[in-house]
Amino acid sequence: MQSKINQYTAEIAVFKPATANELEVFRIRFLGTKGILKDLFEDFKTVSIEEKKIFGKVLNEFKQYTETVYNDFKAQLESGESTQKPDIDLTLPGIGLQTGGRHPLNLVRKEIIGIFKRLGFVLAEGPEIEDDWHNFSALNFAEEHPARDMQDTFFVASPNSRVNDDKTKNTYALRTHTSSVQVRLMEAGKPPFRALMPGRVYRNEAISARAHCFFHQVEGLYVDEKVSFADLKQTLYYFVQELYGEGTKVRFRPSYFPFTEPSAEMDISCTICKGDGCQMCKQSGWVEILGCGMIDPNVLENVGIDSKKYSGFAFGMGIERITNLKYQIKDLRLFSENDIRFLKQFQSEII
Ligand code: PHE
Repeated sequence: MQSKINQYTAEIAVFKPATANELEVFRIRFLGTKGILKDLFEDFKTVSIEEKKIFGKVLNEFKQYTETVYNDFKAQLESGESTQKPDIDLTLPGIGLQTGGRHPLNLVRKEIIGIFKRLGFVLAEGPEIEDDWHNFSALNFAEEHPARDMQDTFFVASPNSRVNDDKTKNTYALRTHTSSVQVRLMEAGKPPFRALMPGRVYRNEAISARAHCFFHQVEGLYVDEKVSFADLKQTLYYFVQELYGEGTKVRFRPSYFPFTEPSAEMDISCTICKGDGCQMCKQSGWVEILGCGMIDPNVLENVGIDSKKYSGFAFGMGIERITNLKYQIKDLRLFSENDIRFLKQFQSEII
């Protein structure tokens, strides 16, 4: 008897009639003259004297419960109130939906890629652990070039380097720049090439507000017949106007990279003081944002491209630097510490 009552109670607890008809069916089933309650009271007559005390109470409570449910629904249906109310407390405060956001370096990386994609550049990637050929030798670094030095490069132990003393052929390192991807791309295909190569690079530097042992670069490469320095300038000029807004000035300063000739560094008019002089540009009105140049014919020959027929340009920039200028972030360490207070500030930036 107890288990029957439990079962009926559970059933009534989820009962929600949508119409007066449904409620009437309920009434006949439970409260009708041949209904369940009537049966239960019949059963009650057969239980022992001792049990009567207990079941009498249980049965009466169940009868009251059923009648209350019936009467409440009846009143609700008659007054036109909905009986389908969800079982939730609408006065409780809601559970806030936590949304994530993009990392500022990712935002800027996406923006840079978007600009060059519009010029027909495709994406290319390469490994972060690189051999000497792709990171240095193919790029025209002389054997004794200081960039190969332990000061700048994280060398990676490999089984080969222990048994073979020929360092240049069998040493591996964490790539020091994304120019290694240029080599891989050109070795694997035939010109023309027009590619953008984003990636993480590593340098053995003490970590401070202005330097880190890893950072991110985007390298660009364009190789075809008759590519000139004018193409390089115009491409980068377009990039700067798109990224920092029209009217941003650019200037090229002669520089040196083993893999480009001639080489240049490109400055833009300071995005913060607009050229008047401030802390960011060290009062000069200009800030350097990238290195570039015409690909050295030696590099083209190293990867099997006829340097008499083809020419090309390359450029490389640090995403951290571009981001610092855009958002005025003064400490590089913020990018890798994952401090939610820092990251939250970029949550609403959608690209
Ligand atoms: N690889 C250079 C660096 O890491 C940047 C660069 C790329 C310069 C391509 C010229 C051409 O500093």
